[in-house]
Amino acid sequence: MARNATKQDEQISDKTKRETLLRLFRYLLQYKKTIVLVLVLMAFTTAVALINPLLIERAIDVHIGNRDKEGLIRLGIVGIVLNIFMILLIKWRMYLMAKVSNDVLVKIRQELYEHIQTLGFAFFDSRPTGKILARLMGDVNSLKDVLANSVTTFIPDAVTILAVVVIMIAKNVKLGLASMSAIPLMAVGVWYVQNKSHKRWQIFRKKTSNMNAFLHEDVSGMRIIQSFHAEDETGATFDDLLKQHYDSFDDAVRYADAFGPVIDICWGLAAMMMYWVGVVLIGKGEVQVGALIAFGSYIAMFWQPLMNLSNFYNQLVTNITGAERIFEILDTPAEITDAEGAKELPKIKGRVTFEHVSFHYDEDPDVLSDVSFEVEPGETIALVGPTGAGKSTIVNLLSRFYDVQSGEICIDGHPIHEVTIESLRSQMGIMTQENFLFSGTVKENIRYGRLDATDEEIVEAAKAVNAHEFIMSLEKGYDTEIKERGAGLSIGQRQLLAFARTMVSQPRILILDEATSSIDTHTELLVQKGIETMLRGRTAFVIAHRLSTIQNADRIFVIDKGGILEQGSARELLALKGEYYKLYMAQFEE
Ligand SMILES: Nc1ncnc2c1ncn2[C@@H]1O[C@H](COP(=O)(O)OP(=O)(O)O)[C@@H](O)[C@H]1O
Ligand SMILES: [Mg+2]
Repeated sequence: MARNATKQDEQISDKTKRETLLRLFRYLLQYKKTIVLVLVLMAFTTAVALINPLLIERAIDVHIGNRDKEGLIRLGIVGIVLNIFMILLIKWRMYLMAKVSNDVLVKIRQELYEHIQTLGFAFFDSRPTGKILARLMGDVNSLKDVLANSVTTFIPDAVTILAVVVIMIAKNVKLGLASMSAIPLMAVGVWYVQNKSHKRWQIFRKKTSNMNAFLHEDVSGMRIIQSFHAEDETGATFDDLLKQHYDSFDDAVRYADAFGPVIDICWGLAAMMMYWVGVVLIGKGEVQVGALIAFGSYIAMFWQPLMNLSNFYNQLVTNITGAERIFEILDTPAEITDAEGAKELPKIKGRVTFEHVSFHYDEDPDVLSDVSFEVEPGETIALVGPTGAGKSTIVNLLSRFYDVQSGEICIDGHPIHEVTIESLRSQMGIMTQENFLFSGTVKENIRYGRLDATDEEIVEAAKAVNAHEFIMSLEKGYDTEIKERGAGLSIGQRQLLAFARTMVSQPRILILDEATSSIDTHTELLVQKGIETMLRGRTAFVIAHRLSTIQNADRIFVIDKGGILEQGSARELLALKGEYYKLYMAQFEE
């Protein structure tokens, strides 16, 4: 079933491109001040660029024409100073813009991450993790250049074109019109090409997403694949996806590449037109040589920005589908929402009570029926039981990823459906086998736990969970860039980072749902110690396959058949010789 979902293209609604664009650029508005500064810098540099041809015209027609050596040198110095100044300003502007677009990306990614956490698990049930990751990582990254160029290319180039048109027409109407004569031809060409290419880029992104999903599943399930000797079959599937991916790229890029040549041809035609008219006008004495040379510069200043704009447009068409996919997730409504008049859950101690809780998924029979228990603040509860018994269901109900059908769950006496989800989940740390790592530094990844955490708090958290030492052994310590999805780190190391992230958020209630089941033996000991620190002083629910990891729990609940069959400490339960004893012996024999 999962394999099938990988091969399936995702359906993306054909919302209007303009809406998506406006929404994307609205993020930039949060950086108004910087952007205004960038625009001022650009206005200055554009002005210098526009003045340059006038300097040359003056040099040729006035100073050289009159053999005025001193005047020429003075003019030269003015030109050089202006242009050096311009280069410095361009550097500054590029730095500012890169920073803004990076900040926007981080914002979008945080929004996505936070939103995905509110979506409830039904969202994850219906799509492969790889596809979700593809949106978090690739689609967000693809917006980087679009955002930066929207300010540094779009606005100044549009302004430059307008200014050049005004100057050219003011200087000489006939030459000006000749310089722009190929515009209608260009319009037709560009329209044709763009029409073809948007659809193709959309297809390409879908194929990329399919491949990501496949790789993610395949890599995380590698052991299973190998143990079932299914390598050949998976290999064939991969080849197939790869070919589809490649073909769709090939197809899309063919049209995208056509923008440049269309404009190049028009540019060439317009230049020929302009020089022809120019030579005729010089013959008639209407124009001087310097002016024609200046027009040679202006025609480039008119067509080059057009070329830039078309490249930008191309980039937009290529990447806008990434934005569409991001907004689609952001627009998926949370299934569980705050009740009318929900209150903030005050700072909790961590007492958890289930009172006669019954729950079932959809139309299925009860997974839990009439479950009641009470957990004291600071207690560690281990949940054990066969697969499908309802262990995850219990913790998912506690964090309100689903709502109970009858009974009540309370934290410190507050029924959880009467408080805001934000105030509830912000006091809980939930860790599963899946932990998202983002491209960004180690420090940034830990900070996702609590955005206002200081650097010291981050280091402290990492130390507490035993992650500090391995982080320091990385090339740049806390500033090491994490590659896509944490490639280059072992599963255990990734887990340690996720622990540190949870630790930074200082949750009162901690949920570990099989968080340690795929850890390599190398880091197991470290992780084990990290967990011990995390558990200290917190209410915790630990679900683990390996019974050895839960020996120290205050109480163990054996879950099966819709409820708690046995509970007690490990020693008590072994002495009981009941279900836990059976589970224990079964694992011991393995
Ligand atoms: N999202 C879901 N939709 C429908 N049924 C589900 C869903 N999640 C779990 N179940 C079913 O609920 C039962 C308990 O699942 P779960 O709590 O995940 O068990 P455990 O964590 O103990 O392995 C299982 O029969 C499982 O098939
Ligand atoms: Mg489970």
